Amino acid sequence: PRRVRVHHLRQAKERGEPITMLTAYDAVTAGIFDEAGIDVLLVGDSIGNTMLGYSGTIPVTVEEMIPAVRAVSGAVRRALVVADLPFGSYEASPEQCLATSVRMFKEGGAHAVKLEGGAHLAEHVALLTRSGIPVVGHVGFTPQSENLLGGKRVQGRDDEAAERLVGDALAVAQAGAVAVVLEMVPAAVAVRVSEVLEVPTIGIGAGSDVDGQVLVWTDMAGMTSWSPRFARRFAELGAELRGAAQAYAQAVRGRTFPAAEHSFE
Ligand code: KIV
Ligand code: NA
Repeated sequence: PRRVRVHHLRQAKERGEPITMLTAYDAVTAGIFDEAGIDVLLVGDSIGNTMLGYSGTIPVTVEEMIPAVRAVSGAVRRALVVADLPFGSYEASPEQCLATSVRMFKEGGAHAVKLEGGAHLAEHVALLTRSGIPVVGHVGFTPQSENLLGGKRVQGRDDEAAERLVGDALAVAQAGAVAVVLEMVPAAVAVRVSEVLEVPTIGIGAGSDVDGQVLVWTDMAGMTSWSPRFARRFAELGAELRGAAQAYAQAVRGRTFPAAEHSFE
C-alpha cells in the first residue's frame, strides 16, 4: 500500500473524503488498524489514561512516549504516524518544541507531531515546519490544560469563545500546521473552522461536518465500561477479552487445556 503523506490529507479535504484517525500505543493494535485502512495513527498522550493507568495526560513524559511511538511506526506500512508532544515538553519555547519533536522523529520514527494550543504556539509550529517536521494542531478542549479550563468541558460555546477558537485554529494553520484536531466544540463552530481552514480539521466531539474523525481506540472498541458521550462503541472488546480470559482459566482448571495438539511428544 502507498504510504499516507501529509499532502494526501489536503487532497482528501479537497475531494470531500473523510480522513480516518485512531490512537494506537503498541505494535499489535497499530498493525491491526493499519491493515484496516485507518489513514492516521496518533500515538496520543492519552496513553496516560488508557495504558499507563494515570488519571490524565499531564504526567506523561517523553521517555514514556518514545517507545510507544517506535512500536507504532515500526508496525505500520501505510498509516501516517503522529506523535503527541506531552505536557511540559514543548510549551516554553519554539526551540524546546523542536528539540522534543526531533526526538520523536529520530528515536520514535514519527512522521508528524501534534501539540495542544492556538495562536500562542504559532512560532513553535512555524519553526517545526521550517525544520521539516509536519505539525498537527489541537484546539477546543485541550486535556493538558484541563486545570485551567475547569475540567472536561465543551469549548467555544459563546460567540466570543467561538471567535477565539476560530482564530486559534487559523493561527496554527497559517503557521504551517498540516491538520487541526477539534476536540469537544459545538458542531456549528467546527463547521466554521472547517470552512475557514484550507487544511483538514479532524474532529472528536465536534460533529460530523469536519474533514476527518479521531477516537481513542479503547473508546472506539468498547474496551472499558465507561466511554465519553462523543464516542461510539463499535465493538465490546472489553467484554470479549474478559470472556476469553475466563474461558482460558476454566480450561486450565478443568485440565481441558492444553490438549494433545498443544503438547509435544
Ligand atoms: O491523546 C489523544 O488521544 C488525543 C486525541 C483525543 C485527539 O489527543
Ligand atoms: Na493528546
